[in-house]
Amino acid sequence: MKHIAVLNGDGIGPEIVAQAVKVLDKLIEQGLQVSYEYAKLGGEAYDAYGSPYPNETQEIVRKADAVLLGAVGSPQYDNLDRPLRPERGLLAIRKDLNLFANLRPAILYKELANASTLKPEVVAGLDILIVRELTGDIYFGEPRGIITNDKGEREGFNTMRYSESEIRRIAKVSFESAQKRNKKLCSVDKANVLETTELWRQIFNEVAKDYPDVELSHMYVDNCAMQLVKNPKQFDVVATGNIFGDILSDQASMLTGSIGMLPSASLDENGKGLYEPSHGSAPDIAGQNKANPLATILSLAMMLRYSLNDEVRAKQVEQAVQKVLEQGYRTADIYEDGTTLVGCADMGDKVVQAL
Ligand code: NAI
Ligand code: MG
Repeated sequence: MKHIAVLNGDGIGPEIVAQAVKVLDKLIEQGLQVSYEYAKLGGEAYDAYGSPYPNETQEIVRKADAVLLGAVGSPQYDNLDRPLRPERGLLAIRKDLNLFANLRPAILYKELANASTLKPEVVAGLDILIVRELTGDIYFGEPRGIITNDKGEREGFNTMRYSESEIRRIAKVSFESAQKRNKKLCSVDKANVLETTELWRQIFNEVAKDYPDVELSHMYVDNCAMQLVKNPKQFDVVATGNIFGDILSDQASMLTGSIGMLPSASLDENGKGLYEPSHGSAPDIAGQNKANPLATILSLAMMLRYSLNDEVRAKQVEQAVQKVLEQGYRTADIYEDGTTLVGCADMGDKVVQAL
């Protein structure tokens, strides 16, 4: 039996996670073989244990097969020393679990096409997946620093580095993700200028031989930025390194305009993963039953797909969300005239009913 760790976190975290847990309970009632237990991360962990990622939590998440998280962070912790701040808990758990593959879908349900700042015909029905490498690249490469150079002026430098094994493992996750979707993978690099990404391209071409059913293409990052805005539906899975992926995944998520709808997954080498909405803890609406829980519920669907190997139930949850939108239910962040405004808890109930 698979085991899940559930982390509420701060702000709207407890409210949105409670809705995903309702869905999880329903799936268990329908025969899903999993157990789960709660642990604390971020501000709630600091309050209970004096650390944003305490040993008590570490023990639980290390032995779990997957982790579901709301979000961390709240202004009440702004005066703490940096190592004690809630956001440090998030960095710590990602590092501790070696979560090198960040999967961020950008999905725009047809019913929400007006939420985007782009023309509906460009984005309605958009469904793409950005795979971003999360533990390497120029963000972590050595050497780095600010020095005084030979001319006596200050000089800053960082180093873009990727080893073959680091590229190979993110390539595999990218190809496997494409296999689970529409079998098109676009690898994004700057191979015309940067040797690191020339190696990236070579290795993606090598790994492609193991996935003959996936169609691999390559694109320079600057062109990808343009194509994402011009014709985003041309993509299925987009794979990139850490720095390009940081920018492109944020860009892709804003094509949809609805932050309350976007899930994410961060995976290790064995399929263990941390699943959380792409948004933060929204302290401005915390405790008001206003938050949109769908990003968290869709993160649970990703957990079913990537860590629990249950594609059938993953699709069922996604279709339940789709159905609730078709029925016209909307939380405040996605509300339009002619639809029915519901609170966070009601939205969770509607998804459970649709299941
Ligand atoms: P945010 O994503 O929490 O909020 C931005 C805006 O979107 C706010 O107006 C908020 O009300 C709204 N919003 C976010 N999620 C929503 C939802 N599910 N339903 C309806 N509206 C929603 O980003 P912000 O304000 O920059 O950060 C707030 C806190 O969250 C900070 O402490 C920040 O460090 C933390 N944070 C945590 C993340 C995580 O746990 N992964 C990621 C990003 C921020
Ligand atoms: Mg970013």
